[in-house]
Amino acid sequence: MTIARRSLTGERVGRLPASGIRRFFDLAAGTEGVISLGVGEPDFVTPDAFRNAAVRSIQEGKTQYTSNYGLLALREAIAEHTKQLRGVTYDPKGEILVTVGVSEAVDLALRATLNEGDEVILADPSYVAYLPAIVLAGGVPVPVPTTEASEFRLLPDDVRKAITPRTRAILLGFPNNPTGAVLRPEDVAGIAALAREHDLLVYSDEIYDRLVYGAPHRSILDEPGMQERTVYLAGFSKAYAMTGWRVGYACAPAEIIEQMMKIHQYTVMCVPTAAQYAALEAIRNGEADVRRMVAEYDARRKRMFERFNAMGLHCFEPRGAFYCFPNVSSTGLSDDVFCERLLLEEKVVVVPGNAFGDRGIGHIRACYAASMEKIDDACDRIERFVGRQRR
Ligand SMILES: Cc1ncc(COP(=O)(O)O)c(C=O)c1O
Repeated sequence: MTIARRSLTGERVGRLPASGIRRFFDLAAGTEGVISLGVGEPDFVTPDAFRNAAVRSIQEGKTQYTSNYGLLALREAIAEHTKQLRGVTYDPKGEILVTVGVSEAVDLALRATLNEGDEVILADPSYVAYLPAIVLAGGVPVPVPTTEASEFRLLPDDVRKAITPRTRAILLGFPNNPTGAVLRPEDVAGIAALAREHDLLVYSDEIYDRLVYGAPHRSILDEPGMQERTVYLAGFSKAYAMTGWRVGYACAPAEIIEQMMKIHQYTVMCVPTAAQYAALEAIRNGEADVRRMVAEYDARRKRMFERFNAMGLHCFEPRGAFYCFPNVSSTGLSDDVFCERLLLEEKVVVVPGNAFGDRGIGHIRACYAASMEKIDDACDRIERFVGRQRR
């Protein structure tokens, strides 16, 4: 008699595909002379003062767990920063949670608020982790297409059409990864009006809020009546060049933060203590570093976006984050084939747009958080590659 063997893994996670980005990093790893525009992370090393603060905390023996919510001094500094930046007040003692990057904050926000079958509206294309995180929290993702013609903005009229009696929330990620799109004030106002009208929550991932070029960032928190229905997510990885430290945070009504804290407490306890001290230094004294890096990204952004258009790969001007999202369909290659062959033939890593949703098909994501020299070299190689397709 044979006994049917049960699956070793759960169905929910089994149905999820692995990230379409990682495959390209694995392909590139270990190959000599590769230029990577693949990973979305600053090429800057974390500024000295932030690193020294972490070293100091270790030398002073601050090696224990912190509060589950995070160091109180860090929460107070986050409250002050958010007040300065967004003009809203959060209580550091109950409305702020320090998390393992914005990644954990997104996961906690969804798990703390969704019931089985709740629908969550999000832009297509969007950051790769959103859709799986919604599914793992028992929710149902409802991607709303954004288009190149509307500069990949999430338009209130399209959001309205996607709302059903099961809609629980809107997940906003602007400035957007992968497109570099930002929302206009009227988009944010329209989305906020829909949230109020239909009693929806908004999860607002504003990790790129400082990386904007030309126009100030417009937050959902700028809209009346939104603080009470928003889970505001922000962090240190991008603006402060601190990806490896793993520090982010969530600000929300105490009712939500309390539930998020429970999951955080039972899974990770707290963010590594030394990393919290580095973040504290960054948020207190890092403004000049942020401005210096943003000015550098802006110059690189212009260079890359102009180069793509000049070689005939149409690219709308990205106004936020650090990505260009050119359309490669004129080469006759799919985005997957484009990326694979570009890596093989010219040793440049970019990411196929389909990894971020169906509306990313036909595009590639190139990160300009690389030195100008590398951007120029990579663009020369891409131009050569594109030229060969057109012959
Ligand atoms: C939109 C967006 N949200 C969140 C994250 C995760 O950031 P963290 O390093 O803070 O976990 C990323 C990283 O690429 C991102 O692009």
